[in-house]
Amino acid sequence: MKPIESKPQKEESAKKRARQHTIAITGAGRTNYCRFVTVCYAFCSNYPYIDLCRMRRNGACKLNCDQLVTYAGTLLQMEMSMENHLQLCYPVRTLDGKELLPAGAYLTQNTMKELVRLSGMETFPVKKLLEYDTVAEDLHSICNEPPYCRIFSDSVRRKEIFKTMNQVEFVQPLLDIYGYFKTCDHYTYRHILTVSALTLLLAQELIDNREELALAVAAAPNHDFGKACVPLAVCKKTTPLNRQDQALLSHHTTAGYVLLSYYLKNPNHPAAITARDHHERCDSSGYPRRIALRNRVVEIVAVGDVFDALISSRPYRPQSYDLRTALEELSLQAKSGTISEDVVNALISCNRENHPCRTECRFSHELRGTPPPGNHYQGITPCCFVPEPGQEEGPVDSGSTA
Ligand SMILES: [Fe+2]
Ligand SMILES: [Fe+2]
Repeated sequence: MKPIESKPQKEESAKKRARQHTIAITGAGRTNYCRFVTVCYAFCSNYPYIDLCRMRRNGACKLNCDQLVTYAGTLLQMEMSMENHLQLCYPVRTLDGKELLPAGAYLTQNTMKELVRLSGMETFPVKKLLEYDTVAEDLHSICNEPPYCRIFSDSVRRKEIFKTMNQVEFVQPLLDIYGYFKTCDHYTYRHILTVSALTLLLAQELIDNREELALAVAAAPNHDFGKACVPLAVCKKTTPLNRQDQALLSHHTTAGYVLLSYYLKNPNHPAAITARDHHERCDSSGYPRRIALRNRVVEIVAVGDVFDALISSRPYRPQSYDLRTALEELSLQAKSGTISEDVVNALISCNRENHPCRTECRFSHELRGTPPPGNHYQGITPCCFVPEPGQEEGPVDSGSTA
């Protein structure tokens, strides 16, 4: 089981990465060096830059000044991601239109503290999720119908999932978000419930520690709540997404983080962290911060998220992947290091009869599945990209299935 990285550990790995990156810079002429130091300190006076500057004194630099400035910018981005200073590209509003944070706000510790202070002025009634509207009934239908009836076929495990879900309680405004999705974006409503159940199923297999299991229970049910801040026209678009759409859609991670931090009165709540990080990847290829995902619970949610996206019909892809092809796709992603391999193996185990031990579950290297035709999904550029006017129809990624 991978431990969750503490802040000092994160800082240490940031330092290490900065050092590795700076080995290429072995010194420079005095002018370049001075300009470089100025740039570094203008951006931020944190340690990677100090390390970098110290190393720069040791010899002649092979990079010109512009390259150094670009380099400093890259390191700044890396450092900012470590420091959690996400910036909002769009405002975050509650369902009733109250603006929690404006576009352009940096999600610093102080900003989040102030957000929590404001939410402390309100009190919200708390209710059980499974007692809200038709949630319990809908969750049973998902588990009973293809393709999930096979995955949730173990009655003991399924009973445990419902027992656990029955303990989940939310404040009324979060339950209202379920109601909003049920009425306006049924795919997202179903998806959120399915990923919750999948997370709990996989957590039973992968997590022994009771405290960590409790984190999974708290984290699972609202990973995509930020989509309540994305225009429905984008969420339900059936044609390829342009860059503006991609930027709006990727906003759901940071928006979910803000919404959940506000309603749960805690920016470190596992549900808020999961909403923010479930599109991050183990090899730092995700978004919004491009961090290397090292949070066990979020890794599980991320695999369930991709799996459900593949085997469900989506607005941009009327026909879903079959189970075989979806699991092949996940295995490929695990092999390339983007998602966790043992989480994928646990999922494969749930898909096989008699649920063999996950360590014995492997896919053959021969790929036999065929992705469905008419898949208009092109992936999301892993950053909050706001296009310049007139550039809305820029090039997009192709072939991604997450
Ligand atoms: Fe998402
Ligand atoms: Fe999702």
